[in-house]
Amino acid sequence: MPAPAHAVSSSRQRPGSRPTFAEVNLSAIAHNLGCVRSVVGRASRAGHAQVYAVVKADAYGHGLIPVAHRLEESGVDGICVALVEEGLALRAAQVEVPILVLNGVYGRDHAEVLRAGLTPVVYELGQAQAFVRAAEGRPVRIHLKVDTGMARLGVSLDELPSVLAGLDHLPSLRIEGLMTHLASADSDPEMTALQLERFAQVEARLRAHGHNPRFIHAANSAGTYTSNADTHYNLVRVGLALYGVAPLPEVGEDLMPAMRVLSQIIAMRDLPRGAPVGYSATFRTSRDSRIATVAIGYGDGLLRAAGNRGSMLVRGQRAPIVGAVAMDLTCLDVTELPEVEVGDEVVVMGQQGKAEISARELAQASGTIPYEVITNLSARVPRVYRD
Ligand SMILES: Cc1ncc(COP(=O)(O)O)c(C=O)c1O
Repeated sequence: MPAPAHAVSSSRQRPGSRPTFAEVNLSAIAHNLGCVRSVVGRASRAGHAQVYAVVKADAYGHGLIPVAHRLEESGVDGICVALVEEGLALRAAQVEVPILVLNGVYGRDHAEVLRAGLTPVVYELGQAQAFVRAAEGRPVRIHLKVDTGMARLGVSLDELPSVLAGLDHLPSLRIEGLMTHLASADSDPEMTALQLERFAQVEARLRAHGHNPRFIHAANSAGTYTSNADTHYNLVRVGLALYGVAPLPEVGEDLMPAMRVLSQIIAMRDLPRGAPVGYSATFRTSRDSRIATVAIGYGDGLLRAAGNRGSMLVRGQRAPIVGAVAMDLTCLDVTELPEVEVGDEVVVMGQQGKAEISARELAQASGTIPYEVITNLSARVPRVYRD
């Protein structure tokens, strides 16, 4: 279910009776597109690589349609989705830029994919044959995905000769793009180099076989920020960085986080030393304490693993999460912040005053990665758009 969207101009206006919402700053996404452009503009083999924005999974939780519209307005070259449904939703919302369907699961929708002008990613001969049949003689353009080490999707190096031989029987099919996906661009340069070496071999074999793909692409956000001119090829597929989360802590200083998650203190209690807090009493006060109850829980996508580990911001200061995160509620220890009261704004992720809880910090506290933190924000949290 898509998240309800509310266009308001100020974070003081709240969209529902419950004071919990996510503020999405669309100008930050446009700004981040500019940052990515300057990285690929500086350093691509072709002088200027195209930027395709990855907006799968509801634009990593930010809202598929508003994000795609803003990116299109800002001149993004194309969009990547995982699912056919996501691509069709974009076309229904009048998004006109090229849309690449990454996951390659088409069910019986081959004709509909072509009618909507979506570009399919193909990694099996059977998929290519199904699109050619569905096109009834009209030309078909696909991006061919090869597996250079991710071991997930893609034609393997061993399968490549037979797939190329099979494609010879499909003269109406054009390989418009050749792509692979990097498994460890944020952590393992050697593995990335090996993948890129294999990819170069595949490109050479494809060209030797008479194909001349217009687009060659491998880089995700980490690949875009860490690889050199040659490895951007002439297109990069960027998700995380566009939402203002740097793929590695030491790059992308100019990126602006596009999402803040806000809630409110809805109750307070003074507890004596030794008092249990929350389900299963996973926390007991070690002193006389002030405990604040915040209107957000794992039903909203705050990961339960953040219980007793993460913090939130109140009045520009950090307050530790105490006890287990429940479905709708989470407790903070505000003993050190005596001025805090019911009704105070709480920032779960993002900036408040000079303090900030980044997606990366929240991910570390929850034992996961920033992708999961932002994508996990549930549909019941209204998204409030600022631009
Ligand atoms: C095939 C493919 N390309 C690009 C991306 C974008 O990755 P990132 O969000 O790290 O930029 C993804 C996302 O997982 C992907 O699956």
